[in-house]
Amino acid sequence: MTKPALKIEKATSSRIGEVDFDNLQFGRLFGDHMFHMEYRDGAWGEPEVKPFGPIEITPAMNVMHYGQAVFEGMKAFYVDENTVNIFRPKMHFERFNRSCRRMCVPETDYETFITALEELIRLDKQWIPKKSGTAMYIRPVIYASDNYLAARVSGVYSYYIITSPVGAYYAEGFNPVSLTTPDGFVRAVKGGTGEAKTAGNYAASFLPAKKAQEEGYTQVLWLDAIEKKYIEEVGTMNIHFLMGDTLVTPQLTGSVLAGVTRNSVTQLAKDWGIKVEERRITIDEVFESAENGTLTEVFGSGTAAVISPVGSIQHNGKTIHIGDGKIGAFAEKLFDTITGIQYGKLDDPHGWVHSVSV
Ligand SMILES: Cc1ncc(COP(=O)(O)O)c(C=O)c1O
Repeated sequence: MTKPALKIEKATSSRIGEVDFDNLQFGRLFGDHMFHMEYRDGAWGEPEVKPFGPIEITPAMNVMHYGQAVFEGMKAFYVDENTVNIFRPKMHFERFNRSCRRMCVPETDYETFITALEELIRLDKQWIPKKSGTAMYIRPVIYASDNYLAARVSGVYSYYIITSPVGAYYAEGFNPVSLTTPDGFVRAVKGGTGEAKTAGNYAASFLPAKKAQEEGYTQVLWLDAIEKKYIEEVGTMNIHFLMGDTLVTPQLTGSVLAGVTRNSVTQLAKDWGIKVEERRITIDEVFESAENGTLTEVFGSGTAAVISPVGSIQHNGKTIHIGDGKIGAFAEKLFDTITGIQYGKLDDPHGWVHSVSV
């Protein structure tokens, strides 16, 4: 792999003094540096790392009208004074490019991506929180940045990678989430944009999520858009059901985001000799399985929380309760193993971690 030459402009002063590492909020503070690259006339230009700061835009910028934007969300973990681990950057990158293809955004190359991540981590290594459960969140984004008002593919794109120190998701212990199927809304349909990590998918989910929260639920459990009976995913997580000795995970049908954590969960379960089924699963099957006692655990998987226990699911006026208000033993083992690999405390048999010497 030939390393692309990154132009580097170092920040002359640091904002690290603003960071209260004991009270980190998600995505509120950003590292001193950011990666930037521009696409125009059919090619990506010179990659650079420069001080984080405002960008100049006009109200005619394409992305603000037509939503042509793709992004990723991943994490880097403090191991020791000399090492930081990025979790599965290659898999995140591959999904980033798949999102680009679906949204007509020009693809980028892995060498530039990983070199940019390594450089940002080295330059802003003091920004990486050290306490257990904390991490440096990494947000790559590409958006249409030409300036004209016409609903067609942009010819100009801006690519940024920014970083943000994030606190422990479970600082006060695991809180099982309550889910509800949506009342009249759908998230995505095969052939649409559901499997892309693109801005509009999130904008479209805000109203159903707000309604669910007003009714006292944590998040929406999305069903397929056609028959409204097959389970797809949850807000910003994939979902898994432990039924007897089988881990059932909704299959990737074209309308579900292919989670990196989802893939890690199913791989570990297979490693441990658990029967794993990636298949279509109906909400009725889950309710029946809860009623006949075979459903022992339900949990979500995603970069933010890693594993999120589900305590209840509401559908058509009926509610099932899962577990006893705590995380299940299987979900906890997954959480401990994935975080153990992330922090370099456990073996990494699948080579998921990309270690950076800082
Ligand atoms: C819609 C959606 N589903 C699932 C996930 C989980 O994916 P990952 O494990 O790659 O974070 C996310 C988070 O990125 C998401 O936004």
